[in-house]
Amino acid sequence: MIAKPDAIEQLARAPLVDPFGRDISYLRISVTDRCDFRCVYCMSEDMTFLPKRDLLTLEEIDRVATAFIARGTRKLRLTGGEPLVRRDVMSLFRSLSRHLTTGALEELTLTTNGSLLDRYAQELADYGVRRINVSLDTLDPDKFRKITRWGDLDKVLGGIEAARKAGLRVKINAVALKGVNEDEIEGLMTWAHGLGMDLTLIEVMPLGEIEPGRIDQFLPLSVVRARLLDNYSLIEDPYRTGGPARYVRVKETGGLVGFITPMTHNFCESCNRVRLTCTGTLYMCLGQEDAADLRAPLRASPDDAGLHRAMEEAISRKPKGHDFIIDRRRAKPAVGRHMSVTGG
Ligand code: GTP
Ligand code: 5AD
Ligand code: SF4
Repeated sequence: MIAKPDAIEQLARAPLVDPFGRDISYLRISVTDRCDFRCVYCMSEDMTFLPKRDLLTLEEIDRVATAFIARGTRKLRLTGGEPLVRRDVMSLFRSLSRHLTTGALEELTLTTNGSLLDRYAQELADYGVRRINVSLDTLDPDKFRKITRWGDLDKVLGGIEAARKAGLRVKINAVALKGVNEDEIEGLMTWAHGLGMDLTLIEVMPLGEIEPGRIDQFLPLSVVRARLLDNYSLIEDPYRTGGPARYVRVKETGGLVGFITPMTHNFCESCNRVRLTCTGTLYMCLGQEDAADLRAPLRASPDDAGLHRAMEEAISRKPKGHDFIIDRRRAKPAVGRHMSVTGG
């Protein structure tokens, strides 16, 4: 006779659905808050990073991810900071890849600044990663150094090349920055499409204090789209990844351009994702301060009962959406933490 599953086993399999009826099927995991760059819109120049002792181990991250997968997560994205600077992160990809093999997980992927792809691209492909997002805002080496404060464009371009050689599909993510790369969007697009890569443009969001104000950086994508329309035909495309971008196909290049528009067109109603930080904090929304601690229940017991209860409770508090505003009267960012804490 098959034993009747007890309450906790049932809970551990129940899909996670938030109060607005949205299924949580996408978990983004920031494996480190550190980065080898200091992008001007992402970090301040002198960041204080978390002490290493506060970090979840890679085994603990795997345990949380596995609990989410049991409850309906189909897409896992590792982010940072820069995920590839976390020591031994490849062992996490290796262990998580078992969920691809069983079919429980549809996609295992990462968002990276590309600086270390040269070293890791082949291994990522070996562990079942098929598609990656590389953040790159300019193709001008001097501008690249200014935006990233420290970065070397050639290393990133080499990394993208290595990824393509390893058979990974690469999507380029560019944050649209007023007066910085707005004259380069077309160039980035034709370069990316020429290499068979899609391009996603992102509106800058008010996360964390940075030295120049956000208002100086913010460029609405409605403006960028209108400018592209002067020279290109943009055809609405149904392509969806489970992320927030909405796509158009560019008739002249054949490639896709995605628009991520948290500021000008809110996409929260279809939000399917939550974010785990490297210390085990779960943020239910990128644009709100509320969070749940999963590290304590994780460490309290070797079984996952407490963890599942904490996940359930956290999702029951997922807010409807963000309240981002960038304007001259508002000196404070909408959210105190920097993007590098949650990885976008
Ligand atoms: P795909 O799987 O390729 O669609 O990627 P993705 O857009 O889900 O992930 P990626 O890491 O490329 O995210 C790009 C950017 O979109 C992030 O850095 C964030 O800036 C933004 N973004 C992702 N999810 C959200 C969200 O829930 N809310 C807001 N406001 N922005 C988000
Ligand atoms: N607003 C919008 N995008 C940001 N990113 C980092 N900080 C911000 C911000 N304040 C982007 C990076 C990368 C992704 C993880 O988030 O460029 O593409
Ligand atoms: Fe690092 Fe990405 Fe932030 Fe730039 S945007 S500092 S590459 S985490």
